[in-house]
Amino acid sequence: MGGCPYANEKLIIYSYKNHIVMRKNIVAGNWKMNKTLQEGLALATELNEALKNKTINCDVIIAPPFIHLASVVNAIDTTTIGVSAQNCADKPEGAYTGEVSAKMVASTGAKYVIIGHSERRTYYHETPEILKEKVLLALANGLTPIFCIGEVLAEREAGRHFEVVKSQIEQSLFNLSKEEFGKLILAYEPVWAIGTGKTATAEQAQEMHAFIRKIITEKYGKDIAENLSILYGGSCNASNAKELFANPDVDGGLIGGASLSVDKFMPIIEAF
Ligand code: PGA
Repeated sequence: MGGCPYANEKLIIYSYKNHIVMRKNIVAGNWKMNKTLQEGLALATELNEALKNKTINCDVIIAPPFIHLASVVNAIDTTTIGVSAQNCADKPEGAYTGEVSAKMVASTGAKYVIIGHSERRTYYHETPEILKEKVLLALANGLTPIFCIGEVLAEREAGRHFEVVKSQIEQSLFNLSKEEFGKLILAYEPVWAIGTGKTATAEQAQEMHAFIRKIITEKYGKDIAENLSILYGGSCNASNAKELFANPDVDGGLIGGASLSVDKFMPIIEAF
């Protein structure tokens, strides 16, 4: 990545106890249920090559399917690209056929785990209580949770989007200590924008991100809230990334469809 050691961080100076606050810009690719092992390895190594000797102004993370994790970690330079799982179990270990624990994810060398993606909430009925357990297990195993929140279209149309997002955060995360909360990454993903080609406007994203930072400030204080990276997700692509990321409270993106090829993913990384 080279260059200035703080190139990946936004410098925000505020008066609270005169601290200098830094939070990371992050572009993360959520591959969802796409790519065979061979295709996934090819994509990860191609991205690794494309990022070599390039100065980039954000952290880059990819989230391949579970079975790719160990191979991807071994195939790339993990100081350039962080590796994330897309989910983990809500139980530590034992007789849970088909599940993958946070400890297993960590044992592959992956450092992050996406938790609470709307597809998990909707299709696999993951409740706020279940997600709370997943976050605790992820943290206990040294993983950084990328916790997703976001309203569905009917909730936005009813003007309930702030209330919904607030309650998602409260129900799954407000049990955490200040120290634990400080380890999280959040991703605001309005469900109506995911995979639909319909992006939130830069104003809608900024408004929600600022609201999220405000409720985190109220609960955990300015220090924690100002250092928290809040990513936007939902049809984010090369043509809208710059405008979205230019907002003061939008610290990057969680990218689905456009993370499946280097041609589409690179320009989003370069939007910073
Ligand atoms: P999308 O997905 O970029 O394909 O809309 C984003 C996500 O679900 O994380």
